[in-house]
Amino acid sequence: MGKALDGVRILDFTHVQSGPTCTQLLAWFGADVIKVERAGAGDITREQLRDVPGADSLYFTMLNHNKRSVTIDTKNPEGKLVLEALIQKCDVLVENFAPGALDRMGFTWERIQELNPRMIVASVKGFGPGPYEDCKVYENVAQCVGGAASTTGFDDGPPVVTGAQIGDSGTGLHLALGIVTALYQRTMTGRGQKVLAAMQDGVLNLCRVKLRDQQRLERTGVMKEYPQYPNGTFGEAVPRAGNASGGGQPGWILKCKGWEHDPNAYIYFITQAPVWVKICNVIGREEWATHPDYATPDARLPRLKEIFAEVERWTMTKTKFEAMEILNEHDIPCGPILSMKEIADDESLRKTGTIVEVEHPVRGKYLTVGNPIKLSDSPTDVKRSPLLGEHTDEVMAELGYSRKQIDALRTAGAI
Ligand code: COA
Repeated sequence: MGKALDGVRILDFTHVQSGPTCTQLLAWFGADVIKVERAGAGDITREQLRDVPGADSLYFTMLNHNKRSVTIDTKNPEGKLVLEALIQKCDVLVENFAPGALDRMGFTWERIQELNPRMIVASVKGFGPGPYEDCKVYENVAQCVGGAASTTGFDDGPPVVTGAQIGDSGTGLHLALGIVTALYQRTMTGRGQKVLAAMQDGVLNLCRVKLRDQQRLERTGVMKEYPQYPNGTFGEAVPRAGNASGGGQPGWILKCKGWEHDPNAYIYFITQAPVWVKICNVIGREEWATHPDYATPDARLPRLKEIFAEVERWTMTKTKFEAMEILNEHDIPCGPILSMKEIADDESLRKTGTIVEVEHPVRGKYLTVGNPIKLSDSPTDVKRSPLLGEHTDEVMAELGYSRKQIDALRTAGAI
């Protein structure tokens, strides 16, 4: 079966996490992703957080599946010529260097357009144009400047970053959408274009609901579904809301049986309005279904703490999985807090290809997250990440270089 992006060639100049997430997705959709790495060194993550001596780290292998690796010294004059040949052959150049690095290499937008006017040049940067555009940015910096950290955590504690890599992987996802959109537009215009996904913008996009709340706060001075209501205080900016749901259906994390020794024996519980009567029945507070202080969502808002404490009295008598089963029989939305260990062992995630076991020639078997986006006509086969420079000769031959030329370029240190 063919793949959605068959025939699309990507010159992958990405490193670390944000860019590689993007190009890995494109590779899973069938694009030929040629990862250009620094000769002799490669993507810095190959050796970061290493768990097997001498083998590419999980950091690298889990972000670079289905790609080919070539090593080119793009600061070497002959290496630059190889890169020019690649630019002429590819449809998209993806990069997430520090601001200005591509220009310093001599590959400005104008130069790339001269070489290939159909080329789409896609970049992740920390910030868009403005006072911080020249700054280097990593994941947690993006979470802080994109509004996530100030709105995550508890009211009486400092700002908190989340484990979900919304700055890096989140921005990689945004960039991938920009690239396929630009490819689609090119089918009509015949022209390439620049695609920019700034990490601050990507995180803010994912924090959209908090900017919604900022405006609600400014208008009303209070947000009744926040835990600060009714006894706490609201300031000028959206406060940290602990585990509040962030939507119109109040929720909270509640203890389950075993919480004393298992740090993940908890469940997320939502007091969804349409199933309120069922909630009352399950927890044994049938009278709340009709009592004026509890029967309507508005009446419940000032009493959420009391209500969740009462639900917790019930959840603490069940394991998180027992609670999940019982609550789902009644259509009550909830979710157990799953540990990474539980997720790694989850049979259903393995069946769908969301968790995949991959064989690697140096490190052996490892688990990875497969393609979370499933296309019925373009299934994903997860293939191991490439070794450093594994495909240099193959790609050089495809570009038309002879064996002799390849050897000479290698001797010159260009590849
Ligand atoms: N041959 C020769 N030189 C190469 C090369 C190659 N194949 N590939 C990269 N280089 C050079 C670059 O040209 C650059 O040189 P210069 O500084 O002289 O211009 C140099 O390697 C380092 O690149 P840089 O991107 O500055 O790496 P860094 O390790 O200093 O910074 C980041 C890393 C992630 C902070 C930075 O790249 C960045 O801010 N990127 C944009 C935001 C981003 O994606 N952040 C999240 C990363 S998960």
